[in-house]
Amino acid sequence: MADTGRADGVTRRAVLAAGTAAMVTISTESTMAAPVSPIENGSILVEVGLRVNGQSFTMAIDPRVTLLDLLREHLRLTGAKKGCDHGQCGACTVLVNGRRINSCLTLAVLHTGDEIKTIEGLGAEDNLHPMQRAFVRHDGFQCGYCTPGQICSAIAMLEEFRRGAPSHVTEQISTLPSLSEEEIRERMSGNICRCAAYPNIVAAIREVAEDLS
Ligand code: FES
Ligand code: FES
Repeated sequence: MADTGRADGVTRRAVLAAGTAAMVTISTESTMAAPVSPIENGSILVEVGLRVNGQSFTMAIDPRVTLLDLLREHLRLTGAKKGCDHGQCGACTVLVNGRRINSCLTLAVLHTGDEIKTIEGLGAEDNLHPMQRAFVRHDGFQCGYCTPGQICSAIAMLEEFRRGAPSHVTEQISTLPSLSEEEIRERMSGNICRCAAYPNIVAAIREVAEDLS
């Protein structure tokens, strides 16, 4: 098929060539294979550079790609889950510069230069993060689908609490409340568990909070 030229000088062949050349480059010490960005028909690719779990990535992506899709589909980090894709379940929660965020609700291109941490970056199999250990100890999951989001969310929630951020159920906002079960449930209300493992999730978070205090 002939390559049809356009008035702005961009040809169909040039667009396809740009798509196939779109590569993820990983800096320095990374040993992770460099996945190729999928070709988006006719879309303009933009370059984004971010740090994920301590590794730097630069890649050309469609600017409409969400952070969640970038993590799962481009970097093959499938720990963060796609539950609702609408900001309602919390399964996609990751940490961005230490703050919890629903990664399905934000575009990857907005996070150039940000430090992103997913469940894969929290601990290793033989060296779990204290929150991961507590979830295991308290059986804070059943199917496990919501668990990566729950754990990331709980870590950031304890940090918010430590900074003195009030919640909807905090009665006295001038003093730091105690981290009651009601406070934990309210502060974790953005993370839904369809297996209803809530009592064990709360117990795990309580244990970590007590260890930190
Ligand atoms: Fe992001 Fe449900 S998948 S909040
Ligand atoms: Fe199954 Fe939470 S453990 S959804």
